[in-house]
Amino acid sequence: MNPTRFIWAIFVGLGLLAGCQSAPQEMDLRAQSPSGNLKLEVFLTDAGQPAYTLAKGSEVILDTSTLGFEFLGAEPLGTDLVSTGSAKESVDETWDMPWGEQAKVRNHFEQLRVSFQEQKAPKRKFDVVFKVYDDGLGFRYEFPKQAGFETAEITEERTQFNLTGDHEVWWQPGDWDSYEHLYNRSKFSEVDAISKRDHPNIAATYVHTNAFNTPVTMKTEAGTYLSFHEANLTDYSGMTLVLDQNNFSMESGIVGGPNPYKVKRDLPFNTPWRMVQVADRAGDLIESRLVNNLNEPDKLGDVSWFTPMKYVGVWWEMHLGTKAWELASGKHGATTANAKRHIDFAAENNIGGILIEGWNTGWERWFGIPDREGVFDFITPYPDYDFDEVARYAKEKGVQIIMHHETSAAPRTYEQQLDTAYALMQKHGIHAVKTGYVGPLIPEGEYHHGQWMVNHYRKVILHAAEYEVAVNAHEPIKATGLRRTYPNIISREGLRGQEYNAWASDGGNMPDHLPTVAFTRMLAGPIDYTPGIFNLTMEPFKGDENNINTTLGQQLALYVVIYSPIQMVPDLPEHYAGHPALQFIRDVAVDWDATKVLNGEPGDFVTIARKQKGSDNWFIGSITGYDAKTLTFPLDFLDKGKAYEAIIYEDAKDAHWKENPTAYNIRKQEVDANTVMELNLAPGGGTAVSIMPK
Ligand code: NOJ
Ligand code: CA
Repeated sequence: MNPTRFIWAIFVGLGLLAGCQSAPQEMDLRAQSPSGNLKLEVFLTDAGQPAYTLAKGSEVILDTSTLGFEFLGAEPLGTDLVSTGSAKESVDETWDMPWGEQAKVRNHFEQLRVSFQEQKAPKRKFDVVFKVYDDGLGFRYEFPKQAGFETAEITEERTQFNLTGDHEVWWQPGDWDSYEHLYNRSKFSEVDAISKRDHPNIAATYVHTNAFNTPVTMKTEAGTYLSFHEANLTDYSGMTLVLDQNNFSMESGIVGGPNPYKVKRDLPFNTPWRMVQVADRAGDLIESRLVNNLNEPDKLGDVSWFTPMKYVGVWWEMHLGTKAWELASGKHGATTANAKRHIDFAAENNIGGILIEGWNTGWERWFGIPDREGVFDFITPYPDYDFDEVARYAKEKGVQIIMHHETSAAPRTYEQQLDTAYALMQKHGIHAVKTGYVGPLIPEGEYHHGQWMVNHYRKVILHAAEYEVAVNAHEPIKATGLRRTYPNIISREGLRGQEYNAWASDGGNMPDHLPTVAFTRMLAGPIDYTPGIFNLTMEPFKGDENNINTTLGQQLALYVVIYSPIQMVPDLPEHYAGHPALQFIRDVAVDWDATKVLNGEPGDFVTIARKQKGSDNWFIGSITGYDAKTLTFPLDFLDKGKAYEAIIYEDAKDAHWKENPTAYNIRKQEVDANTVMELNLAPGGGTAVSIMPK
């Protein structure tokens, strides 16, 4: 793509630069993806700064993008470098997902490792490892052990992503504390993240500068879809992307904290992978497993103690305000009787689990006060909640308890009790926990996405694994594909979930929210969104200002569109009563052999088909944003020659997210691999389809 640059790269390899002694005779600093669709070039700029470019055919995706670091008490590392060697390798392997969107994942890429060293003392050195896939690029810095450079106190990572135009962007602000922002859609040049500061409904939020949280998704003028994120975030700060709007460029903006550095690591160490997904079709972004492939293989072994499941909860009633977490409220939700009521509903409806929030003491002091250390103890139930009896009853009914550990953003208190808390779970055969980190962090000065908290979240995962516990974190660190290595990372929040519809002061999640989430947040990993609310107006508990801004058909479709191995069925049992649509929730699977994205555009609509794990059943979910949609697609993924019955749960003709959200029809259709299915989605609507062999 740039011949002069390539020839120059070879000359670097010939050791023509001063001080470069051990360079090989020929150095090919190019790599390409297995099909050749993506091409990478690595080189040094005139200033001796490492740089790379990425192209897709004739389209330059990333133009000269430089690499480097700044440190506390040491010179920046980035200029005056030479390249001392390179190595290339091709990998093509397949690994199994214990649970997931698909059973098998192909990991197929070309790797280029380039070694760099300073020309003058102290001659610090590092490698950059690039992996070029058909669906994108990942690269990371690797710092080997070296004399005179024992500890890196990183103040800034200067990794550039130099875009080539004023792309259309689906973004949320680069917040050091929260991912619970609405998504915005604008030209790159028009992004104003600062305007999203201090949202009144986000319990802890710090928008540092004009930056993105990742994943952030873009569309180029040529129609190529890009999404930027990071993989394997380990012992490092989370990365935002800081905008340089004059140059259509972005730079890694790592999260800070109370120290004068942002990341502190002893050498040797590797950074997380910086990654960009590249796709012709928006749906290919969702089908890509790049973020998982950039992580290490499974380290836990057999995790069959965790079963993907749907679950109910003593939960939505708190968000509606009819019940409360704290006993002192006089309307305590987590009573033995109420838990049993939900367990009965779960057992009757093929729902495998129950979450009971507010079961433990401390909720009187959990929110809005600075001193929250020691508030929760994770083992002491309120007096009206008989822990042993609820556990016994759940077991009798075949329903698994999902434990709840709200930490109120006091992670030190939680860390002190991990063993006692998980031992209690182990005693009762409880294998999943929902954790929570609501509020500004203590110690003050730390942020949810800084290195200190990244390490806390990891400590929880490793501890939980020892007790055969799977974790669903709320107010989490973002997903970076680590579920491949630690499959007890089952799901997380890390977005504006359904709960905002109950109490947000800004009108809640509007119809374009979930069609955007599917192409942004969902690229990172499973989401505990809590779909499936049937009482969409939330009357009589909520006024006109709070509604679920979708149709009921869309609530059903979300069980397929939004992937998670645990899916909540959150509404009150009485709100499902008399609704034939509940049958879809009973039937829908939570673990999959295959996933196909049939169509979609970020923010507008998306249709996803998934094949149930170990079965011939397929489920389809299709959702749209503000606009009504007629979508047609072939069912050519079905087994040839096999007859199936499709049950279609669709918006009624006059359904509308605002005017008439609960109007739906159910119809049946005989289908096979030759059928072309037509779905009609209302504004803010959706359709859910189950397809089972006859
Ligand atoms: C925030 C979580 O997102 C929500 O689901 C939970 O009910 C509250 N924290 C209390 O833990
Ligand atoms: Ca939350």
